[in-house]
Amino acid sequence: MNIQVSHKGQAADQAAGTIVAGLPMPEFKRITVEPISGACGCEISGVDLRAPLDDETLAEVMKAFEHFLVIVFRDQDLTPEQHKAFTRYFGPITELPQAPTYGEHQDMQEVRREAHEPENVVPSFEHFHTDSPFLLQPPLCVVMRALEVPKFGGDTAFSNGYLVYEHLSDAMKELLDGLEVVYSGKEIWARNEKLPPEKRLRLRESHGFSEDELENIHPAVRVHPVTGRKALFATTAYFKRFVGWTEAESQALLGYLQSLAQHLHYHCRVKWKKDTLIVWDNRFLLHRGVHDFKYERRHLIRTTVMGERPIGPKGPRKD
Ligand SMILES: [Fe+2]
Repeated sequence: MNIQVSHKGQAADQAAGTIVAGLPMPEFKRITVEPISGACGCEISGVDLRAPLDDETLAEVMKAFEHFLVIVFRDQDLTPEQHKAFTRYFGPITELPQAPTYGEHQDMQEVRREAHEPENVVPSFEHFHTDSPFLLQPPLCVVMRALEVPKFGGDTAFSNGYLVYEHLSDAMKELLDGLEVVYSGKEIWARNEKLPPEKRLRLRESHGFSEDELENIHPAVRVHPVTGRKALFATTAYFKRFVGWTEAESQALLGYLQSLAQHLHYHCRVKWKKDTLIVWDNRFLLHRGVHDFKYERRHLIRTTVMGERPIGPKGPRKD
């Protein structure tokens, strides 16, 4: 595998100090930040999320989020309103058409698997994915908190889409830079209905989204609107095809790209405990639940932040 990192030369990296998540480790003064792996993710301590954050602490939390893409806080016993208040630092809370909501909170979702249920009841997908890429403005991030977790297992794993892209050859980057993907969430309810009851996902029964809002075209490579850093934004979940490609051609390339995200050197993995809160990026990072537990309950609640319309290497889409 070609593991050159093209955005920065090796000499410059060495001069800049420790590299983590593909860039020099930032400095933090107000919060304690412990990277989880060399690829992405950090644990933050010294912050109580029940109260509003002062400006400097908030700026450092955001710096950690931008750099590591996954930030983990332990022992955060929040009310739903405190959870939402913290979420709004990242942007406006958005609803999702397909994810089951949490109690009376239409602006929160839950991921719940009862002890007697099979593992496929939760739409965690077989592979790393981003959430709801079929929306015109897919989520920027997810803020998830654990209410109840298995004794062992049930982790969430993450794969850094920047690193996947940066490790491609220049020729492959050029090919992908010009590609767009059709993502569609139109068929998931109909497909679910056809499955035998024990195989069905737990989906939201009704929502206010129109049919048209459930299918959109996005670039296969996504560009950060501020830094310009590029990441792979093509995954199997809700994928229909590359624009202008046949289904067979699309599936062949997608299969290769999806295989890249599996490499351990792009990953971190987080073990949940009760009251662990994780914010993960949904633009430049892939995630998946690890359903390696049985006969135990797993219950997580989350908010979702609306993101910008994805920007490709050739700029915003003109339509
Ligand atoms: Fe997901």
